[in-house]
Amino acid sequence: MTNSKVDGRPRLSGDVYYPSENVIAQANIRDYEEQVRRAQDDLEGFWGERADELEWYRKWDKVLDDSDKPFYKWFVGARTNIVHNALDRHVKTWRKNKLALIWEGENGDLRSFSYHALNREVCRFANVLRSLGVSKGDRVTIYMGRIPEIWIAMLACAKIGAVHSVVYGGFSVDALQGRIEDSQSRVLITADGGWMNGKIVELKRTVDEALKRCPSVEHVVVVQRTGHGVSMEPERDHWYHNLMNLPIANGKSETEVMDAEDPLYILYTSGTTGRPKAVVHTHGGYMVGIYTTLRWVFDLKEEDRWWCAADPGWVTGHSYIVYGPLLNGATSFMYEGAPTYPYPNRWWQMIEKYGITILYTAPTAIRGLMRFGEAWPNRHDLSSLRLLGTVGEPINPEAWKWYYRVIGKERCPIMDTWWQTETGTFMITPLPVVPLKPGSGALPFPGVEADVVDEAGNPVAPNEEGYLILKRPWPAMLRTIYRDPDRYVQQYWSKYPGYYLTGDSAKRDEDGYFWIIGRVDDVIKVSGYRLGTAEIESALVSHPAVAEAAAIGLPHEVKGTAIHAFTILRAGFTGSPELVEELRDHVSKHMGPIAKPEAVTFVDKLPKTRSGKIMRRVLKARALGLPEGDVSTLEE
Ligand code: PRX
Repeated sequence: MTNSKVDGRPRLSGDVYYPSENVIAQANIRDYEEQVRRAQDDLEGFWGERADELEWYRKWDKVLDDSDKPFYKWFVGARTNIVHNALDRHVKTWRKNKLALIWEGENGDLRSFSYHALNREVCRFANVLRSLGVSKGDRVTIYMGRIPEIWIAMLACAKIGAVHSVVYGGFSVDALQGRIEDSQSRVLITADGGWMNGKIVELKRTVDEALKRCPSVEHVVVVQRTGHGVSMEPERDHWYHNLMNLPIANGKSETEVMDAEDPLYILYTSGTTGRPKAVVHTHGGYMVGIYTTLRWVFDLKEEDRWWCAADPGWVTGHSYIVYGPLLNGATSFMYEGAPTYPYPNRWWQMIEKYGITILYTAPTAIRGLMRFGEAWPNRHDLSSLRLLGTVGEPINPEAWKWYYRVIGKERCPIMDTWWQTETGTFMITPLPVVPLKPGSGALPFPGVEADVVDEAGNPVAPNEEGYLILKRPWPAMLRTIYRDPDRYVQQYWSKYPGYYLTGDSAKRDEDGYFWIIGRVDDVIKVSGYRLGTAEIESALVSHPAVAEAAAIGLPHEVKGTAIHAFTILRAGFTGSPELVEELRDHVSKHMGPIAKPEAVTFVDKLPKTRSGKIMRRVLKARALGLPEGDVSTLEE
């Protein structure tokens, strides 16, 4: 990268990092401007060409069907299965001997899988799932840590046409139970525990608690990871390794032929109001979208070692840990545990050890590691790295520059990718050939049309804040909300009919670069994790001392945003430092440690509208000492 103007390219305003000639020369996407134009003029032709790079059992009759907006359909009439392109296609070639996954456990355990080996495990487990009665269209809940079996479980579901619903392993009883119930899964796949910060995460115990209130679950498959002794309910619970030793679990298994529009997975996420709902992603369009975005944005090459340090339990993991790299025939690395265990050099040590070439992580992780100083990364040879990435929340320029200088040694472009669970793929993102501005996600991906508009839907002037919207459909877009199509229409497509409402506010500068500011709804991004205020509040009021609660996000140095709770106590209870701790632990136990409030404040009243809705905006303004804005709807 260079800080000066590159010949023939326009000078951009602000702090700009121009790509070096050698990065441009070897990029997968060399004809960027041409592709942008191509997609602009002929969206269907553009995506059809991308889809042609993959294999289909039957090709589409039409790329995009927009006759029933906003229920868009992509690759209409096509037949495929994402697993065909992620595994079956590769094991027919020399790639069967290529490493698909290298894994390191927090306790030092090591495992690796060639494409052949991964495919064999997936086939065997697919047969196990079939023997448990799972078939096309059935939902299967997966609740695990970062271990190879989560890949196997997800891929085995997809292979047989079952719809996986992965619940992040850091969630706890209430969150898990609500998600199992809504999905009506009959089978749940989990592990006895996982390693995190040298301690065991009690996955199976959480499952046992949650299942007391989930009668739909008939079978629980348990991977032995920690071996620390968990109770197994006869008939219901089965050890993974026992099932995989049955004759049925052989390596011969047919991949189900799916319609391009058949659901691949559902994934729960927090929305504007109320309980989390599941977004639905498909086999066809989603596959084309993640294959293309990963190839172009992170420039995946045959010899790369890709490390997406997210968790498979979130969309980043679905798209860019499991499916995206496999679709590209790449080698991935996955690490089970905490970045700082046992020392703050764990990540840097693994980058050196495995020769990682591309690292994709979240700003919160960078800020967290930055705190320990440069000496830790400087002890290691990080010269294998050639590209870096970030996702999940805005990255502050200081963290960007530290990442760029200390980790990337001023050689590696940083891809600040803006996207969402709903979008399935990167939407606004740099590419290696595009000049970078620290803190900006740069430009829309080819075929994506983004805009920043005011309340009435008019585009705002450059550098003014407004609602971020997307104006054209894209193949990996969510198709609906599981079992709630009305909410799909209402939440995303009704404020500005015909346009997709992201829930974020943003600015666009004079060069057309997008700067994401943050959520404008009741979603809080804590360390990049997406949580809804409603879930946190309902965990709080499930405590006997709490009558009412409101949760807001306030700035935090490492987490980006931290949860602050305001509670009204029931008669007979008085606030105390002990009760604060008790309430924080209560939320952590019910929702998961990521939802633990930073602070709990006892109040007599909460600001509400006359119709009784809590005005979190006002609470936030008061906490930050800012003007309260329009309070005309505030009750007396
Ligand atoms: O607010 C934006 C923020 O994360 C939200 C989406 O969260 P989730 O569905 O959990 O997906 C996260 C990973 C794709 C967005 O509405 N966000 C995501 N990426 C960025 C970001 N904010 C700023 N910059 C980003 N690169």
